[in-house]
Amino acid sequence: MAFDLPGYLAARQPLVDAQLAAYLSDRAEVPAVLLEAMRYSLLAPGKRLRPMLVLMAAQAAGGNDEAALPAACAVEMVHAYSLIHDDLPAMDDDDLRRGLPTCHKKFGEALAILTGDALLTLAFEVLARAYPPRTAAGCTLVLARGAGAAGMVGGQVDDLAWERGGETGGDREKSYFPRTPQPRTLAALEQIHRLKTGALFRACLGLGVWAAQGERVEGPDHALLERLDVYGRSLGLAFQITDDLLDVERTAAQIGKRTGKDAARGKLTYPSLVGVEESRRRAAQLAREALLQVTPLGEAATPLAALMEFVLTRQY
Ligand code: IPE
Ligand code: IPE
Ligand code: MG
Ligand code: MG
Ligand code: MG
Repeated sequence: MAFDLPGYLAARQPLVDAQLAAYLSDRAEVPAVLLEAMRYSLLAPGKRLRPMLVLMAAQAAGGNDEAALPAACAVEMVHAYSLIHDDLPAMDDDDLRRGLPTCHKKFGEALAILTGDALLTLAFEVLARAYPPRTAAGCTLVLARGAGAAGMVGGQVDDLAWERGGETGGDREKSYFPRTPQPRTLAALEQIHRLKTGALFRACLGLGVWAAQGERVEGPDHALLERLDVYGRSLGLAFQITDDLLDVERTAAQIGKRTGKDAARGKLTYPSLVGVEESRRRAAQLAREALLQVTPLGEAATPLAALMEFVLTRQY
């Protein structure tokens, strides 16, 4: 029988939501307005795909949901922070996120920046509290690497550099981005996507394995980490290709964020560079590559295979 991904997600997303809410409950020491903004953005109805990936990777590594839940929540906190900052006027300047006004539209820019800061920091506090030292250190390294300057943040810088660098784009602000127009190549585009989106997806897989196996005497299974990392690379890139396609093909009412914005801002995206059909073909090819990695793992990895299929065909 085919794996029931909707059933899997419906059973586990509420676990993640409840745990996320718990992390933001009874926090009398946090300024009330900051807590409200953190709850607003973190608990808004997102797909929770990154936490699901952490749970799925933990399962593939022989672990269970309960042990992986803090790591799953930590990555969702980093993701939520990245969305708040991505939407700021200084970045993508968006007013709609997850079907709601963006954090800065609701709470103002200063508080939105600080809400992002607080969620990013809380992610690492959660890891430090939840796990024994070795697992906590492993998870911290994986998440920091994926989120940081050589990962998601670096990719966001490159994304903006392509949008704003060069002769025509540089006048939007006193820009430190390169003034020389760079060739719009597939290699450059893939590099942006691999960092701004792919790096955090890869981190999800590593977090799941560490949460499941971090306390083993011999440490987590290197071959498994490597295999799931290759899966995560393909999935992450395919995910951003489909995000670019949704921006072209869907409406704000359908996906809960403004659409048609990438072209308007001159972003370097898959559909703008190679067209819709070729974008789809590339995403499908990446999905095949991802499946090659997880099929040999057998039944424990069927959720990962099903999630790749979902990413390819998602409508939101
Ligand atoms: C949107 O991510 C940002 C990208 C990296 C493309 P999601 O599409 O996973 O957003 P939510 O969490 O469901 O809102
Ligand atoms: C966002 O990419 C990547 C991160 C938030 C790190 P986009 O700018 O394409 O995401 P959306 O379309 O606003 O969700
Ligand atoms: Mg962006
Ligand atoms: Mg954006
Ligand atoms: Mg987008």
